[in-house]
Amino acid sequence: MRVKLEHLETLRRQAELGGGEKRIKAQHARGKLAARERLDVLLDPGSLVELDRFVVHRATDFGLDKEKYLGDGVVTGYGAIHGRLVYVFSQDFTVFGGSLSEAHAEKIVKIMDMALKNGAPVVGLSDSGGARIQEGVVSLGGYADIFLRNTLASGVIPQISAILGPCAGGAVYSPAITDFIYMVQGTSYMFVTGPNVVKTVTHEDVTMEELGGAATHAARSGVAHFALKSEVECLHRIRKLFEYIPQNNAEDPPYRQTDDPFDRGDEDLLDLVPDNPNKPYDMRDVISRVIDDGEFYEVHADYAGNILCGFAHMGGHSVGIVANQPAVLAGVLDIDAAVKGARFVRFCDAFNIPLLTFEDVPGFLPGVAQEHGGIIRHGAKLLYAFCEATVPKVTIITRKAYGGAYDVMSSKHIRGDLNYAWPTAEIAVMGAKGAVEILYRREIAGSGMAMRWPPRSSRNTPNASPIPSPPPRRRFVDDVIDHVETRARVISAFDMLQNKRDSNPPKARQHPAVAGSAPGGLPLTPEEACFTLR
Ligand code: HXC
Repeated sequence: MRVKLEHLETLRRQAELGGGEKRIKAQHARGKLAARERLDVLLDPGSLVELDRFVVHRATDFGLDKEKYLGDGVVTGYGAIHGRLVYVFSQDFTVFGGSLSEAHAEKIVKIMDMALKNGAPVVGLSDSGGARIQEGVVSLGGYADIFLRNTLASGVIPQISAILGPCAGGAVYSPAITDFIYMVQGTSYMFVTGPNVVKTVTHEDVTMEELGGAATHAARSGVAHFALKSEVECLHRIRKLFEYIPQNNAEDPPYRQTDDPFDRGDEDLLDLVPDNPNKPYDMRDVISRVIDDGEFYEVHADYAGNILCGFAHMGGHSVGIVANQPAVLAGVLDIDAAVKGARFVRFCDAFNIPLLTFEDVPGFLPGVAQEHGGIIRHGAKLLYAFCEATVPKVTIITRKAYGGAYDVMSSKHIRGDLNYAWPTAEIAVMGAKGAVEILYRREIAGSGMAMRWPPRSSRNTPNASPIPSPPPRRRFVDDVIDHVETRARVISAFDMLQNKRDSNPPKARQHPAVAGSAPGGLPLTPEEACFTLR
């Protein structure tokens, strides 16, 4: 027995060395951690339970029958983050460049299936040269098996990807289906085709960093949600995310104790919104004064800065914040902002995270590029996401709520639960200047004079202020609140909404041929019965 145990220990040590000490040193020399070292940083100390550590590939061509490494280039298993179960895989670049073989894929698929069955998140750490070239199409099948799991798990369990090395070709589509992508500056790359192929096909010269580095994807393409300076920072950031998200779509997010008083008023809020509607201010200053301890976990911070998305706690409870940012493009909604916001809203809705919206939006961005780029269909994504969301929704209008963008930003009409306006708010079809230019176009043209703005009498259209006299008759806002009491009102609102139940009409159903009867036990229609018999 003792001999067997010693042999087991030897094999374990061998597995832990992956592709060998020399390759681990090379990995360190590039500023990268080894696969297990990364898991040590990501998980609670000593919590990793590794599975399939002695698995090897089954390939025999190209001399591979003589080159086998225990674990086959990926460490898989489960562990804990803040004491909560999480499934993990960490690709090992020291073994065939972390490339994906059939056996490697099977290991990943196994922990994904377990995660889905047991309702816990999956964190995947990618560092891979892509398909294991020696295995050919078998490897492509392995990728497809993973893509399918990513899709089936989407919206059911959180899926997080960290790209800590190369991630190329079709391999990019597994992280792309997951909820959040983290990258590290200088060492992560994602592209469908690399610089050489780009050069051949389009004759463009581009470096790996420019084409698919962390900065490119975090600020330009929007593929990455986070770009961190080091792997350790990246892995710590992922740990932090777990303070805001639940284990699965049937659970609530974790509660975080706070000493920040629920009724804390902040006098500074009074002076944040400038009187001049054309003057910018930083909506982050508003957010940080309202949320618990000023801690805003911003998502996509470098992308589409005209909208802010991120997590925070309000009275200890996790919330997703979506906010127009007047400091960037006046907070206008454009294609990138709509897509960014929509994806975030859908994540929050899928995982029972209430939505808090701060609104100061002058409308959708005009322009040929926006129209031809599809602002209509992309803008619709944000509208759709807010309409569809059934989690508690609270909105604060801080200043402008103009045009279609007013409707989109979680308005009362699309099931906003409690919508508050600050006294500085203006709800209108458009800004006053634009309205006058349309309504009095002939008069302005006839006078031969450029319109003076603001006119001497007033700068606002009569219907813009939320405090008309007599008080609001329409239910576009639930109340006009003092800036200072915002935190207390928002916490009270979410408290009131904590047992909210709302739903949407069912849209998908099992076909009767599979289910045996129509949904709800209704008898089959003749067409359905026909299909069943075919
Ligand atoms: C097998 C691979 C490999 C691969 C790298 N290696 N990629 N082995 N299959 N795909 C091995 C190398 O032979 C080398 O082995 C070790 O990993 C390290 O690779 P290096 O090239 O020395 O490292 P580096 O210079 O850092 O370059 C890393 C790299 C490069 C950029 C990833 O290796 C590379 O371009 N690899 C090929 C990438 C690729 O074309 N993959 C297929 C994409 S198509 P030794 O023994 O020397 O340590 C694809 C389709 C997926 O993935 C489709 C899904 C639907």
